[in-house]
Amino acid sequence: MIPKSFIQDLLNRLDIVDVIERYVTLKKAGTNFVACCPFHTEKSPSFTVSQSKQFYHCFGCGAHGTAIGFVMEHTGMGFVEAIEDLAKGIGLAVPQEASNIPQHKVAPDLYDLMQSATRYYREQLKVTPRAIEYLKKRGLSGEVAARFGIGYSPDDWQNLKAAVPNYQDTSLVETGLVIENEGKRYDRFRDRVMFPIVNVRGQIIGFGGRVLDKGEPKYLNSPETTLFEKGHELYGLYQAQKAIRAQQRVIVVEGYMDVVALAQSGVEYAVATLGTATTSFHVQKLLRLCEQIVFCFDGDKPGQKAAWRALENALPHLQDGKRLCFLFLPEEHDPDTYIREYGHDAFEREVENALPLSGYLLRELTSQVDLRTQEGRSALLKNAQPLLTAITAPTTALLLRKEIAALVGVTQAELEALWSVKPIAAAPRAVPQKLKRNPASGVRTLLRCLVMQPDLARELPRDWQGEGAESAAIVALVDWLRESADETSTAALIQHFQDTVHESVFVAAQGDIMQWPSNFDVRAEFAGVLKKLRLDAIEAEMSALLEKGLSMSPVERELRASLQAEKNQLKAVSA
Ligand code: UTP
Ligand code: MN
Repeated sequence: MIPKSFIQDLLNRLDIVDVIERYVTLKKAGTNFVACCPFHTEKSPSFTVSQSKQFYHCFGCGAHGTAIGFVMEHTGMGFVEAIEDLAKGIGLAVPQEASNIPQHKVAPDLYDLMQSATRYYREQLKVTPRAIEYLKKRGLSGEVAARFGIGYSPDDWQNLKAAVPNYQDTSLVETGLVIENEGKRYDRFRDRVMFPIVNVRGQIIGFGGRVLDKGEPKYLNSPETTLFEKGHELYGLYQAQKAIRAQQRVIVVEGYMDVVALAQSGVEYAVATLGTATTSFHVQKLLRLCEQIVFCFDGDKPGQKAAWRALENALPHLQDGKRLCFLFLPEEHDPDTYIREYGHDAFEREVENALPLSGYLLRELTSQVDLRTQEGRSALLKNAQPLLTAITAPTTALLLRKEIAALVGVTQAELEALWSVKPIAAAPRAVPQKLKRNPASGVRTLLRCLVMQPDLARELPRDWQGEGAESAAIVALVDWLRESADETSTAALIQHFQDTVHESVFVAAQGDIMQWPSNFDVRAEFAGVLKKLRLDAIEAEMSALLEKGLSMSPVERELRASLQAEKNQLKAVSA
């Protein structure tokens, strides 16, 4: 666990403008910086960065967040990864709070060794006609081979002696490049075509090596090391990132050669799992980058199985509005052979027509049972339960429940009762757009002041409360502030409320405060609104009392008098 205080500290020390400029060129516009949004296609810039408040907000597509959020969105890194990356950039070490997660330490020189090995393998490819011939035979051009850094490891036991300063260095064993056995050392990869595996930061973390002729195993892979965790990485993601974002789509395939062959034919947004099933890490990583995932596995039995595993692991991460599809190729094909036989356009057509996840799920579930019998329908209900209850995306879950219920001839309510799951009703949460029609709201302004300067919340009356989503957000903000002793910032606030129920309310506020002039007196505005809200509340209470007229009790009369006094006092201060 990374301590919360470190995240605040990091956000305080970073400059979001520097961070974003690593990826996007920004232009100064008034107090803010702008650019064409990297997260959607546009002609005029609506992507806006506030340097003073350290957050970004796109008025076109609604993308928003802090420096940490930007790096995650833009590179597909996870939260911890993004923090490590940003901390490293400004020379901070990430402290670890005691937890059960194994500590992993990465010596930077391991990356250097991988880099040297890659350079060496690429040079060897250039001087090995047999290997060049092999790649040519598989339809690869020099450009694509270079794009993926493909190389060749010669047929010798200690090739890497020529590539690294010291073959006896223990780190060489740690990278997985060299194997140590009974005191003897030798290269893991010999006489193989080498595919470097690159992480989203562009660092080489492993290799896959293919035999040129026949031989076992067909592919030899780097072992899991401190650099390389198979279930987290995707082959080709580094090279495909830009195309994935531009197309808002990614194709997940099984093999190294599938990725490379698709790129060769102009399909540049494919990635491969590394000899493992598609994990939930993979799905989450890809859903952060784009709108649609198309799984395209081999047409054979293992391919079918891989597709089903991908479906199972994806269910908990489905999001309404994001699409997951499955493309089943003819049995004798994999993406590599298919695109080489039928070409780019035919493959893209198949992708367009890929089967949506819901269709695939229903097709599989219904094919296992005989719906004409009661036993079959009952089995369908039972088989569907673990799958459908794993889905948290409300609309997707609702539609699938309705569909299964209809297939077996029960109502949605009956199905939910049978499965003991919470019924899905109508719209689950408040729509932020509504707030826009209520511009005069004092609470709304109050919230904006607090987002601009979070520590103002310490000046709210202890028992402050109000109605609606914005008031709830203010109360949450006060609670958060009470817990964090350190100085706070807008960026820390945004980071804290990311992915919470309050997020949408804060996002609307961020968009607004970006347009406030730089000399805006937030403190005065805040005090003014607070007073106005209090006066409104007094007014409301007093008129309720007045309605009682003569039936007012003595206690109520006293209350009225004290409200009147408070009102006079508040008014006097403003005069
Ligand atoms: P495939 O056997 O489908 O090979 O393995 P492929 O990708 O079509 O390879 P080519 O076209 O014959 O060159 C798919 C993936 O499974 C892993 C690799 O990641 C491979 O790309 N695999 C396969 C291994 O790790 N080891 C093996 O021996 C075989
Ligand atoms: Mn193949």
